[in-house]
Amino acid sequence: MRRPFIAGNWKMNLDRASAVALAEELAEQAKRVDGVDLAICPPSVYLDAVAKAIAGSRVALGAQNMYHEGNGAFTGEISAAMLCDLGCKYVILGHSERRHVLGETDEAINKKVHAALDAGLAPIVCVGELLSERESGQTMDVIGRQFEGSLAGISAEQMATIVIAYEPVWAIGTGRVATPQQAEEVHLDLRKVIQQRYNESVAESVRIQYGGSVKPENAADLLGQPDIDGALVGGASLKADAFMGIVAGSKG
Ligand code: 13P
Repeated sequence: MRRPFIAGNWKMNLDRASAVALAEELAEQAKRVDGVDLAICPPSVYLDAVAKAIAGSRVALGAQNMYHEGNGAFTGEISAAMLCDLGCKYVILGHSERRHVLGETDEAINKKVHAALDAGLAPIVCVGELLSERESGQTMDVIGRQFEGSLAGISAEQMATIVIAYEPVWAIGTGRVATPQQAEEVHLDLRKVIQQRYNESVAESVRIQYGGSVKPENAADLLGQPDIDGALVGGASLKADAFMGIVAGSKG
């Protein structure tokens, strides 16, 4: 049985004081929640402050990105070991904004996935198609390619610790959410891809989150689908009540 996992991706939002206040509020509200894993992924400059605000709570810390090298002359980059040092448990890798705005390739993401796993971080690996790709019937081709490329060389044991986030690009920040059926179809296909590459038990254990305009109003329908194991939440994760409303809609 997969345990639901709701993560908030704060993206490049908030300031130090509001990040800490939100984290404290979530840590408080999370006391009333059971049976679901929670994480928040603040901007990297606030990781330390947020780590302190959620220390000892049921809310885990995640980062939004990292670099694959261990250390050295890589100006502006942050290593997996640095994220571990700050108390991160998760790291989002291959988010569509990094793929499409910052030009990250599957190859680069793959190096990061390996480095994250080596350091003991659990990667949340994002995949998702553009609207034009969906409309031309290429959804699973694109997602299959992103999956194979981003997760090249990953063992079955490693795969079981990875979280996949299916985030259709056309649903991110647009208010245009995938229907539960559209999302479930892709999640089920992704699980089949995992089964073919690994085996039934790995496919059954990997958690696949949905992301893209998830809100308290649509969360229960999405999260009620058999292969949707949680959500990666952008905009609605910036308000404690909205985020916890989504958590309430999970199977936990
Ligand atoms: P929104 O929830 O704002 O659509 O963002 C989704 C997302 O990109 C989470 O990583």
